[in-house]
Amino acid sequence: MPTEPTPPTMRTATEGGIRFLVADNPGRLNAYTRDMWEALPALIRQAEADPDVRVIVLRGAGTKAFSAGADISEFEGNRTGAEARRYDEINHEAFEAVGRAVKPTIAMVYGYCFGGGCELAMCCDMRWVSADAVFSIPAAKLSIGYNPRWIRPMLSVVSAAKAKEMLFTGRRYGAADAYAMGIANAVVASAELEAETRKVAAEMAANAPLSIRAAKEAVDELVANPEHPDLARLDRFVEACFESEDYAEGRRAFMEKRKPVFRGK
Ligand code: COA
Repeated sequence: MPTEPTPPTMRTATEGGIRFLVADNPGRLNAYTRDMWEALPALIRQAEADPDVRVIVLRGAGTKAFSAGADISEFEGNRTGAEARRYDEINHEAFEAVGRAVKPTIAMVYGYCFGGGCELAMCCDMRWVSADAVFSIPAAKLSIGYNPRWIRPMLSVVSAAKAKEMLFTGRRYGAADAYAMGIANAVVASAELEAETRKVAAEMAANAPLSIRAAKEAVDELVANPEHPDLARLDRFVEACFESEDYAEGRRAFMEKRKPVFRGK
């Protein structure tokens, strides 16, 4: 008897301080359905609220695709007429949730990373990429108007000229190009990707959460608002580090020649 395909869904797993958020729509290269976009903000909130989670890793199920973008098979009902605007809002809320996460976010990219999948990866702090990864934003091939709010995360990753090239041509970029453009922080063999991503996530998970927070807030603010950054707000994150128990623990551990145990307090 043929087995029923599993319905598209977001799955989660937590290991060693890393929360994996997994797009699971294998019949469609992990394309995001409207329900999957809608599920993301709550999943990010849960990861943020869980003190045991130090790093959030987004990935697709299996090793063929991070995501082939939005699930086009739904567009007829969901992304035409008045519904198109609502779809964009839901989509946007998902990107915002990832982009505004306080904890570090990594996109672990196997294979295809297209359209909304590529955008989602660009909303993460960094991208660890398999050698067979392919990035593309083919909106212009479908006559999709690209929401201007989604250009900012792109511009924090690639130059304006490269963003234009990606959007005007809808071209596909392999891992080497993605690395040269700054999309990929690292490119590794597909068989090594999970281990390498876990390694870098574990490095961050062992570090002081308040230090990471101060750095993340500073980078994001300076990219978003380079002319008039809110330095007073950023200074408060730095002060929180110096006032923290973790800072005392960091000093003690150094003197005692042992690894510090940080609690984010
Ligand atoms: N939405 C819905 N279904 C999708 C999909 C998407 N974004 N991307 C792929 N699929 C489906 C295909 O229709 C196909 O289904 P089928 O087996 O029932 O025919 C299956 O996933 C495998 O895709 P296929 O095209 O056969 O794989 P490929 O390796 O030849 O090509 C891509 C991979 C990613 C290049 C190609 O699928 C593609 O161009 N997808 C659309 C990407 C896109 O435009 N995304 C932006 C959406 S806004």
